[in-house]
Amino acid sequence: MRIYHTANYDEMSLKAAQIISAQITMKPDCVLGLATGSTPIGTYKELTRQYEAGLLDFSQVKAANLDEYRDLPKDNDQSYAYFMRENLFKHVNILPENTNIPNGTQTDVDVECERYEKVIAQLGGVDLQLLGLGRNGHIGFNEPSDEFPKMTHCVNLTQSTIDANKRFFEKEEDVPRQAYTMGIGTIMKARKILLIVNGSSKREALHRALYGPITPQVPASILQLHPDVIVVADADAWG
Ligand code: GLP
Repeated sequence: MRIYHTANYDEMSLKAAQIISAQITMKPDCVLGLATGSTPIGTYKELTRQYEAGLLDFSQVKAANLDEYRDLPKDNDQSYAYFMRENLFKHVNILPENTNIPNGTQTDVDVECERYEKVIAQLGGVDLQLLGLGRNGHIGFNEPSDEFPKMTHCVNLTQSTIDANKRFFEKEEDVPRQAYTMGIGTIMKARKILLIVNGSSKREALHRALYGPITPQVPASILQLHPDVIVVADADAWG
């Protein structure tokens, strides 16, 4: 595990973007596993800046996102499909047909989970998986539980996650109660993982993930077993 301490959010974002752009330079047709939330917004801004400066080319890049709320159509402004379009895809030259995200409106859970696993397999697996960290130690939407879920699945969001994410919605009742997410097994198959963390609200989760026991009660703790993880976190997160 390689660990970077940065002074603040902007430095974290810059470092993360440099790692992603190095990946694209090294393998122009790489598969990026992408994340949503407030943490990666600065990273996506920096990638956009590099693209606009002519330093990056997404024309062969493929993307597979971690998760999506259940029941939100992709044009809903709270869907992760919408988030990705607004924060990255529409600003760079990635081809829409090369972007993938679970389909929140597929009502048949088995069909959607199998489809998404197949999509990732057909892409040849993920080269670099970007991850944020939930306040309860979740990655993607893999909530604390009694076991590490292997594959893409449908989850019931915990109250802690609903509380954390309600800031993006008009009212708490609007926050979806379920989501599709890559499983822990899906995430761990990525060849390289980049975990980005900022802010004091993530301090406990970060320490438990990196230095605590490996347990599905702290889903991110499994990253201790991955052979190629980079952690970039700011001073507030390290504490
Ligand atoms: C969300 C997402 C995760 C994200 C995490 C942290 O619920 N499903 O992929 O990493 O929670 O979000 P934020 O970056 O807004 O703190």
